[in-house]
Amino acid sequence: MHPARLWLGLLLPAAAALDFRYHHQEGMEAYLKSVAQNYSSFTQLHSIGKSVRGRNLWVLVVGRFPREHKVGIPEFKYVANMHGDETVGRELLLHLIDYLVTKHGRDPEITNLINSTRIHIMPSMNPDGFEAVKKPDCYYSNGRENFNQYDLNRNFPDAFEYNNVSRQPETLAIMKWLKTETFVLSANLHGGALVASYPFDNGAQATGALFSRSLTPDDDVFQHLAHTYASRNPNMTKGDQCKNKMNFPNGITNGYSWYPLQGGMQDYNYIWGQCFEITLELSCCKYPREEKLPYFWNDNKASLIEYIKQAHLGIKGQVFDQSGNRLPNVIVEVQDRKHICPFRTNIFGEYYLLLLPGSYTINVTAPGHDSQLTKVVIPERSQTFGALKKDFHLPFQVQLDSLQLVNPLCPMVPLYKTIPGHSPITKPSLFLFLVTLLHIFFK
Ligand SMILES: *[C@@H]1O[C@H](CO)[C@@H](O)[C@H](O)[C@H]1NC(C)=O
Ligand SMILES: *[C@@H]1O[C@H](CO)[C@@H](O)[C@H](O)[C@H]1NC(C)=O
Ligand SMILES: *[C@@H]1O[C@H](CO)[C@@H](O)[C@H](O)[C@H]1NC(C)=O
Ligand SMILES: *[C@@H]1O[C@H](CO)[C@@H](O)[C@H](O)[C@H]1NC(C)=O
Ligand SMILES: *[C@@H]1O[C@H](CO)[C@@H](O)[C@H](O)[C@H]1NC(C)=O
Ligand SMILES: [Zn+2]
Repeated sequence: MHPARLWLGLLLPAAAALDFRYHHQEGMEAYLKSVAQNYSSFTQLHSIGKSVRGRNLWVLVVGRFPREHKVGIPEFKYVANMHGDETVGRELLLHLIDYLVTKHGRDPEITNLINSTRIHIMPSMNPDGFEAVKKPDCYYSNGRENFNQYDLNRNFPDAFEYNNVSRQPETLAIMKWLKTETFVLSANLHGGALVASYPFDNGAQATGALFSRSLTPDDDVFQHLAHTYASRNPNMTKGDQCKNKMNFPNGITNGYSWYPLQGGMQDYNYIWGQCFEITLELSCCKYPREEKLPYFWNDNKASLIEYIKQAHLGIKGQVFDQSGNRLPNVIVEVQDRKHICPFRTNIFGEYYLLLLPGSYTINVTAPGHDSQLTKVVIPERSQTFGALKKDFHLPFQVQLDSLQLVNPLCPMVPLYKTIPGHSPITKPSLFLFLVTLLHIFFK
């Protein structure tokens, strides 16, 4: 070999660029293992469970401390391909991984992001469904459901009505995962439309269902999150690029306004996981030909990165008692922004509240003690990748045993049914009727 050739070869990055084609389970596993091996100092690969057919549900974690949670570092996640026939998100997340690991240490923005955020990436929640689809098809196909024919985005406990379906292994794996990490922000990647859809997907009178919408107490934050994603995607932001006649102003919508559904994953994340999740519909065509993949990556790259940064919105910190013990299971909420299942500190006494800049009163309540109210001002965001940091030191001592005794979990029953004045709601019907009749489900 010519010496110049050899020298050039050494300069080229070791990683071969990921190609733009569909990766089946085997190819995806090989790629993820190779990433975890080549970038072991800031990535970790693990499986959170298995599909019905025994395929691993892989998650690649990227972060300064990929193997464990560190106080102050928010946990973020992306989950794709929960409908096996909606395939764009699956490949986009592999390309996102490629982008993050190859830019780390070279691009200051990405280096900062990885240094300050623990990013969990699950390219496929429904690998059996993906393998069941024979060939690219823009419309519904049998791979939407898991191997037992359950739609996984109808398979979670629901806060508005009983959802007594049989919980599937893929769903149970996600539910368990949400208990092991204190996720603060997430997105769930779908296809068949082009829109960023935010909670709730189901509703009651108390959340606005009489007005054909169902809003959370954090609606301003959710609109900001959906807008952050949609506004950076040139086709999504137009709101009317798919030929299914829907027009979404600015490319965002409340899930319930679009069409209500029961047992969805985003509502579950928010209510029982304390994790803000939105649903991203990334392609008019559910399973486009692979020649299109480079265009999708190009249209979504900036959105995917900017959305992760939103894990640093608002305020975070720890709660201690008079003796300096950090207190788990303490309720930390914003006044007038109460969650139906109150947000509580994790085992490190930490809380994270995603909030837009402004003035708020934080209400900290340890079991058996009076609430402590504190006014805070969250400034306009700086570029430091950090939420406002505020620890609370309670003026009394807490019996730590008493904190273990309270059961912090809200029961997984329709919590909104307990709100006074609640009555059953007739769901907005014409579109829902058409959706059911024509089998044109997206989310
Ligand atoms: C990992 O490193 C090997 C050896 O340099 C290389 O062949 C492979 O393409 C790399 N894989 C990734 C995903 O970077
Ligand atoms: C990562 O973050 C830590 C703590 O904020 C900081 O001390 C360190 O300089 C950062 N490293 C890089 C490479 O940005
Ligand atoms: C669902 O399960 C709950 C609790 O077990 C029960 O009270 C309710 O009647 C069931 N609903 C239906 C429609 O089966
Ligand atoms: C975005 O829209 C343009 C113009 O309609 C189209 O050419 C392009 O393929 C679209 N991009 C994607 C990823 O669909
Ligand atoms: C503070 O939170 C506790 C626990 O959720 C609640 O009981 C109390 O009413 C709240 N106080 C105020 C002033 O909002
Ligand atoms: Zn879907």
